[in-house]
Amino acid sequence: MITTPGLLPVGDLVAAVDGFLAASPATRAWDVETAFDWAAADAGRLTEGQRSAVQFVTLIEDHLPGYFDVYHRHFPVDDSVDLPTFEHNRELYHFTVRWALEEDTHARALARYQEAAGIADRDTLRSELAVEGHKPFDLPYDHPVQFFAYALVQEKATQIYYQQLRDVVADPVLAAVLTRLSRDEARHFSFMADVVTRYLRHDGDAVVAPIRDVVANFRMPLSDTLRGYWRWALRIADVADYDHTAAYEHLVKVIDRAVDARTEPVDELVAFVDSCRTLA
Ligand SMILES: [Fe+2]
Ligand SMILES: [Fe+2]
Repeated sequence: MITTPGLLPVGDLVAAVDGFLAASPATRAWDVETAFDWAAADAGRLTEGQRSAVQFVTLIEDHLPGYFDVYHRHFPVDDSVDLPTFEHNRELYHFTVRWALEEDTHARALARYQEAAGIADRDTLRSELAVEGHKPFDLPYDHPVQFFAYALVQEKATQIYYQQLRDVVADPVLAAVLTRLSRDEARHFSFMADVVTRYLRHDGDAVVAPIRDVVANFRMPLSDTLRGYWRWALRIADVADYDHTAAYEHLVKVIDRAVDARTEPVDELVAFVDSCRTLA
């Protein structure tokens, strides 16, 4: 049985998970079946680039089984870990399963939109998604804070993208879908920001290098495996900016709020994160 080094004290994690679930009551939940007027969906109102963007984000969201599995591998909830590690991982699981349900709903909503709006028929889309979906996904991290720092950037980048895409599309059904999705991503970001904040407060400079490593080696999910990813990503950046470095200013804000007085390593980290931003 192993102990995962560097885990947040379980009480801190419990507070973060409780906060996330309190911000996610059933009364605010939505479902694919009833939340949208699918009969009114019309991809004819979209530009070619916007249709391409919908196809792209459907692929990204549809890879959920791969993302979900990262948590099982790196935060196991079985007898491969000792009891204190299990307690931490069991608490995290309360977040992970809810998060996974929401992300799976995103994948279904986008696929349903494609079908309803006339972008793809269901069987063809399923087969296309399977080609990418069965490719492996992993995050090459050794410190637990890195999984949360990575997700912090990724959730914020996705939220920003959905908002920007929503603002330019002329199909109100797609706009409604993107509004739902971006609100969920904002809540996911808030959880990750809370956890990273708690790591910074608890471990201080000890988590600076691991967080720096996440930014230094950041890749959006599937950028290494998705066929034609870079060409596609550049193309949809014209439609609505998909530059993940736009999320870095939010990471800087989290760091700033977490630490009362910046140490030299924290100062260096903030300068580095700022230097990685490609947006003006
Ligand atoms: Fe999502
Ligand atoms: Fe998300």
